[in-house]
Amino acid sequence: MIGHEFLHSPGPTHIPDRVLAAMHRQPLDLVDARLKEIARTCFEDLGRVFGTTGQVFVYAANGHGGWEAALANICVPGDTVLVPEIGHFSNTWADHARALGLKTEIIAGDWRRAIDPQAITEHLRADREGRVKAVLAVQIDTGTGIASDIAAIRAAIDAAGHPALLVADTIASLAAMPFEMDAWGVDVAIAASQKALMCPPGLAILAANARAVETSARLARPHRYWDWTPRLGEESYMKFNGTMPEHLMFGLCESLTMIKEQGLPTIYRRHRRIAGAVARAVETWCEGGALSFNAAVPAERAVTVTAIRTAESVDANRLRTHLRETMGVSVAGGLGALQGKGFRIGHLGDVNEPMILGCLSAVELALVELGIPHGTGGTRAAIEYLAQARQEER
Ligand SMILES: Cc1ncc(COP(=O)(O)O)c(C=O)c1O
Repeated sequence: MIGHEFLHSPGPTHIPDRVLAAMHRQPLDLVDARLKEIARTCFEDLGRVFGTTGQVFVYAANGHGGWEAALANICVPGDTVLVPEIGHFSNTWADHARALGLKTEIIAGDWRRAIDPQAITEHLRADREGRVKAVLAVQIDTGTGIASDIAAIRAAIDAAGHPALLVADTIASLAAMPFEMDAWGVDVAIAASQKALMCPPGLAILAANARAVETSARLARPHRYWDWTPRLGEESYMKFNGTMPEHLMFGLCESLTMIKEQGLPTIYRRHRRIAGAVARAVETWCEGGALSFNAAVPAERAVTVTAIRTAESVDANRLRTHLRETMGVSVAGGLGALQGKGFRIGHLGDVNEPMILGCLSAVELALVELGIPHGTGGTRAAIEYLAQARQEER
């Protein structure tokens, strides 16, 4: 393929050259002071990104590993967790919990709306015997392109007067939209390196408050690798329960430096602006009748990924293959119940205006080439939106 490839899946995402360069080095001896300093600053910076003074834990694992790490530290087999269904990732997290021997209670959702806090209050009010140990809430479900209000979920748990812990999956949202772990009363938060943290896949990153850490210390469980207790000290070898995944940490250290340089408010604004541009393009394309937003309510659309449904007459997978094979542009497919029924444009992490306009132009070109009905001028609508948004921010 000539020219740049455009990776617009909602993770893994484009990795900045600075992050790639930071990983291009020899490993360090485990007792090297430079390595300890890298770990120290990363843990400190991650706490700031999560908005917590609680404990941060980093595992050589993916997001699924992060789910397991959280559950292994706050539940034992036989315990019950409450999962508000929002899409593919809430459902696979619930599957994961069941595979660990947990019981799940699901608040059914239609994959087109955010989590309903009122339904959580009602469910927990009915739980008089305190079965539910934790509520598992996904902030952005990458499969459906919908964001939920995590602070409102804490308020919903409190309104029921229920002691359940709140565990938030911020895998597709951290460092892209506001997340304030301490201020919002989140007990455990889970992230992964390959999304808005702009790193390669391979690190699961958790934060836990004092209540969650105390819960973990009281549990008798066999999951030694996930266990928070040995990871609590300052010793960097034990913080990873073994050898640090050094190169991933070199990369993460650099990406966290970039995040500090830009500042979280600026990063959140950029994500909102770019998501707004994608929304304008998609809105225009939808006028042709073959495409539609998955999110039923515009205010609930995620800033990191846009999920687009396609009419039955459209072969969504053919569109993706066409984009990838003829233009080097990767967008994601529908997941779970949405498999084959649409596509998703990722716009998180190291993304700027030219990158998203390149992606949108390529999608529009593919719509034209494949004869998929669409309203014309989607990319132009995105440009006009960006011009206005950039003017207002100046
Ligand atoms: C919201 C969310 N949770 C969990 C996961 C699972 O992460 P991983 O694929 O790294 O295991 C993903 C992956 O895309 C995700 O988007």
